[in-house]
Amino acid sequence: MKKIVVLGVLIMMVGAVLSGVSAFAKEKDKVQPSKEVDIVLPNPDKNGGMPLMKALNNRRTEREFSTQQMSKRMLSNLLWAANGINREDGRRTAPTARNKQEIEVYVIWNKAAYWYDARKNKLDYIKATDISSVPVMLVYVGDLLKQSKELSFVDSGFIGQNVYLFCASNNLSTVFKANVEREKLAGELDLISSQEVLFTQEVGYPKKK
Ligand SMILES: Cc1cc2nc3c(=O)[nH]c(=O)nc-3n(C[C@H](O)[C@H](O)[C@H](O)COP(=O)(O)O)c2cc1C
Repeated sequence: MKKIVVLGVLIMMVGAVLSGVSAFAKEKDKVQPSKEVDIVLPNPDKNGGMPLMKALNNRRTEREFSTQQMSKRMLSNLLWAANGINREDGRRTAPTARNKQEIEVYVIWNKAAYWYDARKNKLDYIKATDISSVPVMLVYVGDLLKQSKELSFVDSGFIGQNVYLFCASNNLSTVFKANVEREKLAGELDLISSQEVLFTQEVGYPKKK
């Protein structure tokens, strides 16, 4: 009888510790309102995801999202998949013609605009913005002094497909868009004169049907 009581107490203690750990993990992933500061992203998880053939089978465009926000952890994985650095010489998950790396990924998340600094795995704060209501808007910006517009379009497409496959693999919804408010977006991102907004890609959690 005594043994059963001790065992019961032990099970309750382990349960309390485990629920504390899970509450802590959830708290860490909670999205706080944006402050006017740069964000150091968590290290991307390069081991997760589903088999490639399954992700290809799941790839699709979804234009509606639930209101669930995206955590910094998921954002870090998404951005690394999109155009992160995957080799010591600084080359990326997406190819570019003659390795010009002319596409920068800007991020509108949590009512603020950022530039994704892939080298430092950081989001550089630009400004607060209301331009998008989707959980994450990626903005593909080309530097047309580094690369022709035609090749910049091609190079953006590779990033877009990386994002499509990442989303398929992580049960996220996404749409790649050419029909975008280029001038308005450029103003929100403080671009230099050689930079041009080429495409956007919206990402979020699936809308419950
Ligand atoms: C270059 C390009 C531009 C696109 N532009 C838009 C767009 O402006 N708005 C939109 O809702 N979808 C856009 N899409 C998404 C396509 O409509 C979508 O990929 C197509 O309907 C096929 O659906 P699927 O991606 O599920 O196969 C674009 C896709 C590509 C590749």
